[in-house]
Amino acid sequence: MLVTAGPTREAIDPVRYLTNESSGRMGFEIAAAAARRGDRVTLIAGPVHLPTPPGVRRIDVISARELLAAARAAFRRADALFMCAAVADWRPRRKYAGKWRKENVREEVAIIELVRNPDVLATLARRKGRRLVVGFALETGRGEGRARAKLARKNLDYVVLNDARVLGAERTTVTILGRDGSRSRLARRTKRAVAERLVALPAPADGAG
Ligand code: CTP
Repeated sequence: MLVTAGPTREAIDPVRYLTNESSGRMGFEIAAAAARRGDRVTLIAGPVHLPTPPGVRRIDVISARELLAAARAAFRRADALFMCAAVADWRPRRKYAGKWRKENVREEVAIIELVRNPDVLATLARRKGRRLVVGFALETGRGEGRARAKLARKNLDYVVLNDARVLGAERTTVTILGRDGSRSRLARRTKRAVAERLVALPAPADGAG
């Protein structure tokens, strides 16, 4: 089983970067729950300060492009992918070799040009075959329609819909949407309890892929 977790970091200069609030905890709980069931687990983690769950092989990455390279390699040998990482959608077009100094900007407004990062999940799921692929979606309002659209667009078996309020929280509420039309809502559960449900998800009825 392959699990990705945590944020990515996109460098602006040697000491600054763009990132997000992902704690990595959901992905680490999924990796731990899978290992407890006896699965062989590879966990690709962005920069987070969390201990590696027992029995899990961990690969640390920083940027979205590093995550894509590591995930591509690991997905070849995987039966299932849980794509929890909060991949930055954009990265600065160029990384300054030295510190970006305010003296170099004459205006009160500075511009960082961004280019789109690869969509790791969509890239891997495109040729997923019979492998189980689970994506995550963080939505603010009217989430289910958007999450279902993501499920179809990215060729997923399930999408796990989170509310933005759960970031970093102890308990969480998720809705699990399946490509077979299934829907189950888990309210105010610990991340550990949600993880245990997720690693036990059946292959969707239509046979996948
Ligand atoms: N994902 C990815 N690579 C990206 C962006 C997202 O693999 N460059 C994955 C995430 O790991 C997650 C799912 O895609 O499993 C989230 O999809 P995304 O379309 O990015 O949704 P959100 O970030 O939730 O929302 P939005 O599209 O509205 O920005």
